Amino acid sequence: MGSFSSWILFVIAAWTVTSTGVVVSAQKCEVEPNLRFNCHPEIIGFGRENCLKRGCCWDERQSATGGQEEFKSRLNTYDGKVPQCYYSSDFPSYTVTKQQEKPFGYTLDLSRKSQSYYPKDVMQLTADVFFETKTRLHVKIYDSEKPRYEVPLDTPKVSTKAKSTDYSVNFGETPFSVQVKRQATDTTLIDTSVNPAFIFSDQFLQISTKLPSTFIYGLGEHRHSLLLDLNWTSFTFWNHDMSPAPLVNLYGSHPFYMMLEEDGNSHGVFLLNSNGMDVILQPTPALTWRTIGGILDFYIFLGPSPDEVIQQYSEVIGLPFMPPYWSLGFHLCRYGYNSANKTREIWQSMLKAGIPQDVQWNDIDSMEGHRDFTYNQETFTELPALVEEIHQHNQYYITMLDPGIPNDQPKGSYRPYEDGIELGVFVKDYQGNPFVGRVWPGRTVFPDYTNPVTVKWWQQETQRFHDKIKFDGLWNDMNEPSNFVYGAAGFGCPIDSPYDYPPYVPNVFGFVLGDRTICPSAQHNLSLHYDVHNIYGLTEVIATYNALKNIRGKRPFVLSRSTFAGSGKYTAHWTGDNLSSWVDLYYSIPAILNLNMFGIPLVGVDICGFEGDTTEELCQRWQQVGAFYPFSRNHNAIGSKDQHPTVFSQDMQASTRKALLIRYTLLPYLYTLFHRANAGGKTVARPLFFEYPSDRSTYSIDKQFLWGEALLITPVLQLSVVQVTGYFPKDTWYDYYTGMSIESEGQQITLDAPLDKINLHIRGGYIIPTQQPNVTTFAARKNPFGLIVALSGEGIANGSIYWDDGDSLDTFKNKKHNAIKFTAAKNSITCRVVHDGYSEEPMVLGSVRVLGVANKPETVTANSKAVPFSYDVVNKVLKLDVLSLLLTKPFMIAWT
Ligand code: GLC
Repeated sequence: MGSFSSWILFVIAAWTVTSTGVVVSAQKCEVEPNLRFNCHPEIIGFGRENCLKRGCCWDERQSATGGQEEFKSRLNTYDGKVPQCYYSSDFPSYTVTKQQEKPFGYTLDLSRKSQSYYPKDVMQLTADVFFETKTRLHVKIYDSEKPRYEVPLDTPKVSTKAKSTDYSVNFGETPFSVQVKRQATDTTLIDTSVNPAFIFSDQFLQISTKLPSTFIYGLGEHRHSLLLDLNWTSFTFWNHDMSPAPLVNLYGSHPFYMMLEEDGNSHGVFLLNSNGMDVILQPTPALTWRTIGGILDFYIFLGPSPDEVIQQYSEVIGLPFMPPYWSLGFHLCRYGYNSANKTREIWQSMLKAGIPQDVQWNDIDSMEGHRDFTYNQETFTELPALVEEIHQHNQYYITMLDPGIPNDQPKGSYRPYEDGIELGVFVKDYQGNPFVGRVWPGRTVFPDYTNPVTVKWWQQETQRFHDKIKFDGLWNDMNEPSNFVYGAAGFGCPIDSPYDYPPYVPNVFGFVLGDRTICPSAQHNLSLHYDVHNIYGLTEVIATYNALKNIRGKRPFVLSRSTFAGSGKYTAHWTGDNLSSWVDLYYSIPAILNLNMFGIPLVGVDICGFEGDTTEELCQRWQQVGAFYPFSRNHNAIGSKDQHPTVFSQDMQASTRKALLIRYTLLPYLYTLFHRANAGGKTVARPLFFEYPSDRSTYSIDKQFLWGEALLITPVLQLSVVQVTGYFPKDTWYDYYTGMSIESEGQQITLDAPLDKINLHIRGGYIIPTQQPNVTTFAARKNPFGLIVALSGEGIANGSIYWDDGDSLDTFKNKKHNAIKFTAAKNSITCRVVHDGYSEEPMVLGSVRVLGVANKPETVTANSKAVPFSYDVVNKVLKLDVLSLLLTKPFMIAWT
């Protein structure tokens, strides 16, 4: 505290009545550095005079910070300094004027007397407090008098209070503040009194909270380590077409964070708001939400385990879609095959090399002039035939639909535009004319998917295109929406519009909201682009998902670049234009783990990197990690060196084949995890701390990850190494390849990692269903199943399998599936059929590996009949290889 008194001397405050009618005293500026909240985040006008005009405190001693600090963060050199201009401790805000009990909880009336320094304060607010479920609190703060834009997400509507809750809520009245506690531990999860400046004006809404620990995750889509940095970091939410770089706003927006509390409990907070936003973290520890429109609609999830937090979050935003089984196979794509023949050649080379592949893709180079719903009549004339050939091999084909529709084609030559114009399906500019930007095809207009007419038109165009090319899935790219110019082509955005140039501009790349996208003043059926920008991609994938569902009558597969909370109900995601670099390989892991927390479990990054040229070693390691991305696709940029697996040496091909065959072996496990995501919101790829929330050593691990509870992946992410060190939480772990056990006390372990190997370990206590692999899922699904039984120290293990035809709609809802449970205990494994609703393909169990069998058994029986077995004395593995049990019939395997 020595320095505490010295800095007071340098703090200057406005002594008298300021322009906003506020009086602050110097004493109220005695705020500890970490408790200072930025009062002048704008770059423009940043300085002492304007700070004091706002009724804020100015710390003379500090060098350029505050607004300029934000400016630096944009250039990724955020220097961790406290704001120079900050709120006094008595900065005026709202007071509670009335509290009323309601069947759902209660309602507060809030009002403020003086204006803040942002235009159009909402002077009267209502705060509805919904005690929705035992673990879910919902606080909605909105204008008492005038409706404002709200995100059209289909959230649960709760009208009566939960009987009991894990949380308690308290309010401060003057000024208004909220505190949320976890009752069981008395931990304060939310405390907004930490920053007096709760502001709710028309275009600047801000509320801060003190955080209960420093272990915070989420707030995507950003490039960051898994554990977020609280040292004055700012995360901006404004969907943007931009190669992933640290801290800048990227393709999607997920205003959601999750925290571990000091005792290992966890909770999550979601702000349902789609306007441009900044979230600022500071070392208090505290977090500030700062959005430029809409309302403040918060959900708080009490967990208490991390996976429960995500399940509770998924109940609000929507459960992830159930992917078709084939989409869990390997995908191969590139921008720039440039012809159907080249596409065929590479697809066939994969068949010839025996490297697993389920899906072949094409990019915009297959189109006629990059125009949606067309294929190139010179270079891709054979595309319909090629797609047929792919189908004959029981493989699948995916192509692309970007939102930009060209508006400059000769009359009568491009129906999608002509029909669209007639129907009025495109986004309008501020004057009501179709908004024209520039994307791949040239000058384009943009479908407004918030308009039901657009959705019908999109379905019809998609159907017409499908009549020509029998694609199995669709790729929605450029849907931030991306625009190659600033705002309208040749015009930009209207300079005097409060939406294009709002009083506060979030910390967006490019400094203006219209950078590389539609002008915020453009108009959609639902609202201004200003409000719906961040859900543009979401609205597009809903339209695409439903179109595919109607056209194919099977499970849709959509891949989207832009996402928002709730996108996982309709789409898979990849993380956009990464680089062929080792750093990008590392960042793929936190990205995938984050997207799983955001309810989009089917996620991957471009294997071997998109931009730039890969090297064989990088691509080899990447193919190994990528074999464990939930969505596994190698994709490449036009002009970059080829990077499909078969372009490399035989050794590299062999290691890629090996990694992918392991993936295909484990697909029944992966599919079961996807079922659990779809039915209950569980994550598929998950960080180690999800399973070990009381082990602090796991909190920052983002170079290893888990599939579900049981499979630990420890990849090599560096050049020229043949060993890798990973953390093994306290448990029994088994090497996937040998079955050798590791008894970990919670320690770092160094493993051999020759070029052709990715380290995989199975957690004791779990049973993993497998299937003998093949080069397509179609072929693999005909093979016998297997079980890997990884015994715990006590000789116990559990597992399950979910199975259905892999492609029909609603199999779970219609009970056209099998659900089977396995239990191992006391030298035996039993199989229990929980549901038996799918019999088209017999599920034959061909082999079992039991890991951790201490001594060689004398006899092994299946349903009391002796069966042949072998035993690996060194690794203590019991192997049964000639079984033919039906998984849909109860059975028991025992050894003595
Ligand atoms: C964008 C996509 C990329 C695609 C390219 C051409 O850059 O992110 O994946 O290949 O557009 O369509």
